[in-house]
Amino acid sequence: MAFLKSRSTALITGASAGIGEEYALQLARRVPNIVLTARRAERLDQLAQRLRAEAPDTSVTVLPADLSDPDERASLLARMAALGIVPDVLINNAGVGDYGEFAGAAWPRISPMLRLNIESLTHLAHALVPGMIASGGGAIVNVSSLAGELPIPDFAVYAATKAYVTSFSEALRIELGGHGIRVIAVCPGPVHTEFGEIARRPGGGRDIPRWWFFMPKERVVSESLAALERGRARVFPGKRTALAAAFISAMPVAWLRRAMSLRPRKSRG
Ligand SMILES: NC(=O)c1ccc[n+]([C@@H]2O[C@H](COP(=O)([O-])OP(=O)(O)OC[C@H]3O[C@@H](n4cnc5c(N)ncnc54)[C@H](OP(=O)(O)O)[C@@H]3O)[C@@H](O)[C@H]2O)c1
Repeated sequence: MAFLKSRSTALITGASAGIGEEYALQLARRVPNIVLTARRAERLDQLAQRLRAEAPDTSVTVLPADLSDPDERASLLARMAALGIVPDVLINNAGVGDYGEFAGAAWPRISPMLRLNIESLTHLAHALVPGMIASGGGAIVNVSSLAGELPIPDFAVYAATKAYVTSFSEALRIELGGHGIRVIAVCPGPVHTEFGEIARRPGGGRDIPRWWFFMPKERVVSESLAALERGRARVFPGKRTALAAAFISAMPVAWLRRAMSLRPRKSRG
């Protein structure tokens, strides 16, 4: 992990649960300064205590924020600047889904999803890149999804936000490579976290059909950090996810449309 060992400060979004919490646990052994953000301050404080116990040499700062709110995002950036924190590793992980037909979706669920999954991820990268360039390098780990590889009925907006994340990451990687900044899109398949429960609409009936396979969050994070070390552009953690991604990319788009129209739908459940 030579690349990560040479970094100074990692900002991890969505660190209060799931994959983000796991990034914090694995990075605390490699990067000397960790900044945790999400909305639930109590959860972040508990994680900070655990990190300080497990990695006593690591400095941990907790800065809660609702990243779907542009003012709270600006305040997070201002608080970091006031504390002299200049992250050179950005783990752009915070994200939410909304499972169900688009026609019946509540705008108050769609709008913050767009602001979190797309706007916040882009805003934080935009705000931190100049500091990374000035310090001679850095890393941006954008947590996308296998869902970004194909259009998904009942997950139309979420899958589209992840298509954005993957596309943005690939272009940014080319733009920033010359500055010593590595950009990687992490594209997991299903992972057991709070994601599924939060994506389910209130009174929303059956769960998201994720019939294929689940990957432990520990492996998602360790494989993505290993891929970052190798300078990879995109990682699909786990053999089955990688196989599914290869299959999707090799499939003619007409077949893909047919396959997605035959997929078990929430409305038919
Ligand atoms: N789980 C999966 O199957 C799966 C598969 C592929 C990709 N992913 C992606 O992996 C990433 C992490 O998801 P996860 O599975 O770990 O889900 P999770 O357990 O629900 O964690 C989501 C994290 O995002 C934070 N978050 C949510 N809304 C936020 C907001 N408005 N402002 C700031 N932070 C917010 C949550 O913290 P607070 O609630 O405390 O704010 C939490 O820490 C997401 O980008 C997701 O799309 C997940």
